[in-house]
Amino acid sequence: MRSNYCGELNESFVDQEVVLCGWVHRRRDHGGVIFLDVRDREGIAQVVYDPDTVESFAIAEGVRNEFVIKVTGIVRLRPEGTSNNDMTTGKIEVLGKQLEVLNAANTPPMQLDEHAEVGEEIRLRYRYIDLRRPEMAGRLRFRSKVSNTVRNFLDGHGFVDVETPLLTKATPEGARDYLVPSRTHPNKFFALPQSPQLFKQILMAAGMDRYYQIAKCFRDEDLRADRQPEFTQIDVETSFMDEEQIMAIMEEMICEVFKTHLDVELGKFPQMTHAEAMLRYGSDKPDLRIDLELVDIAELMKGVDFKVFSGPANDTESRVVALRVPQGASLSRKVIDSYTDFVAIYGAKGLAWVKVNDISAGLEGLQSPILKFMSAEVITALLETLKAQTGDIIFFGADKIKVVNEAIGALRIKVAEDMGQIKDIWAPLWVVDFPMFETASDGSLTSLHHPFTAPSCDAEQLAADPLAALSRAYDMVLNGTELGGGSIRINKPAMQQSVFKVLGIGEEEAEEKFGFLLGALSYGCPPHGGIAFGLDRLIMLMTGASSIRDVIAFPKTQSAACPLTDAPGAVSAKQLKELNIRLREQPKAE
Ligand code: AMO
Ligand code: AMP
Repeated sequence: MRSNYCGELNESFVDQEVVLCGWVHRRRDHGGVIFLDVRDREGIAQVVYDPDTVESFAIAEGVRNEFVIKVTGIVRLRPEGTSNNDMTTGKIEVLGKQLEVLNAANTPPMQLDEHAEVGEEIRLRYRYIDLRRPEMAGRLRFRSKVSNTVRNFLDGHGFVDVETPLLTKATPEGARDYLVPSRTHPNKFFALPQSPQLFKQILMAAGMDRYYQIAKCFRDEDLRADRQPEFTQIDVETSFMDEEQIMAIMEEMICEVFKTHLDVELGKFPQMTHAEAMLRYGSDKPDLRIDLELVDIAELMKGVDFKVFSGPANDTESRVVALRVPQGASLSRKVIDSYTDFVAIYGAKGLAWVKVNDISAGLEGLQSPILKFMSAEVITALLETLKAQTGDIIFFGADKIKVVNEAIGALRIKVAEDMGQIKDIWAPLWVVDFPMFETASDGSLTSLHHPFTAPSCDAEQLAADPLAALSRAYDMVLNGTELGGGSIRINKPAMQQSVFKVLGIGEEEAEEKFGFLLGALSYGCPPHGGIAFGLDRLIMLMTGASSIRDVIAFPKTQSAACPLTDAPGAVSAKQLKELNIRLREQPKAE
């Protein structure tokens, strides 16, 4: 129907006849002439109708925003002084000759210009309109291009794209499963995959050597700005490569994506052990754009009168840290109180602080509610350890290790954000040497990655002290976001059984849940490993979107629903009967 996209037009088209198809972005009546801004995928062009073209002019009078129209006209330069340098098509306009309304539109429930503030519920319910916004459409097209680069890179390196099932058995990645009842096997359920983990390992057993898939994954977990119940992984697995080789090739892929689409050189990624990341940043995904660091001061605080500090300082399961923030001495009491409330979210019972108003004035130059509890020697040693300077504020956290890491780790980011101390750079890194296991709240051990990750030690050492065992896992972190995670896998059934045992999975249960994997490991499974990247997160970071929902065409809300289709929905009694399911009465909401 069309000869050109609206956004393509420029001075080189002057005097040409063009046919445009698109939506009425805006209609302006300028006493005698009608301006239509016509929008399509590629941009906006201004079309002018004057009363000489009687029939078209009459139609133009009747069109409204979001009508779909077909315009035939001649491109001409805009009159002197009326060109718009903000628009790529701003130097020209189309003098309309004919106008056809291809479809009318109701008054849209939202404005389509970039400045309009629209609630997310409305945006998701009318997603087809929301996605017309150039910003949203641009992100989806960017996503498509990045996927394409990833595919080309992997194809070029001998990876084979294999689809794995969506109706399958549970794959534990630490979240709840989405279940699908089976009609043909009453009272039995499929699980939607939390990842293709087990299938990709089985493909290695099958000799595929190098696999990839841009794969949908499903996790029923608490949602946040960077999590969706249904999301996409760039999923990769290789045989006969060690962790350094896998990290190198994946780093090359991510570097290529950034170079191609943002013209950014990420450079060589540093590697940091998990232990160091926790120690210095309180996080296993440190944001290295921020210079602030947690400093352990337990040694100094062991003997002080202040029980809040000396207690944790003398307890091996606790930590006492200081966070020195340059220029923080100017923070008001109100702001400090708000930070105290902020760390309380993570379970911190308080937030002690010291302002360094004048370092040359000794104790006189300090201001703090806790100095009275400490000797001059301790305070002097503290300032020296921290290399404190005039203008600093020092925050303190003293509690169980987990509480301190989470609270002060999060405070580090919040303060840096508030004070404009986040550098405008890309800061990627690999985090390595993760522990194999962590202790859950009920005291049991769970895998830090997943139960198929190989330990760095042998089975005896693993059994003797599981909490001390490290894994052969690696995470790629970018600007404080975990972009991807992977590991070398266990490829021998005995080691897999040892890990199951530590996790409290007995032989019978292992056979029932993972017998097919153990089988695959028993018939000549090569050494193998891989990784998965969150594609949505990658696109979110690259486009600077503030939510993962802005880079997914049809995302779910925070409560895991879809306002567009109204899913999840009720099903008929007949369907339930076929599935052998009887519903329970829901307790009435208070
Ligand atoms: P993991 O669970 O770390 O590893 O997931 C890999 C990456 O997927 C992304 N991701 C998510 N993105 C959006 N919403 C979610 N709910 C969500 N959960 C995870 C993250 C994460 O780094 N099978 C292993 C990979 C492997 O070992 O090869 C796995 O799934 O960016
Ligand atoms: P208190 O003696 O309880 O009034 O505490 C004195 C100061 O220490 C206050 O600024 C509290 O916010 C702070 N504080 C209390 N508990 C902790 C803690 N666990 N970690 C860091 N600071 C704390």
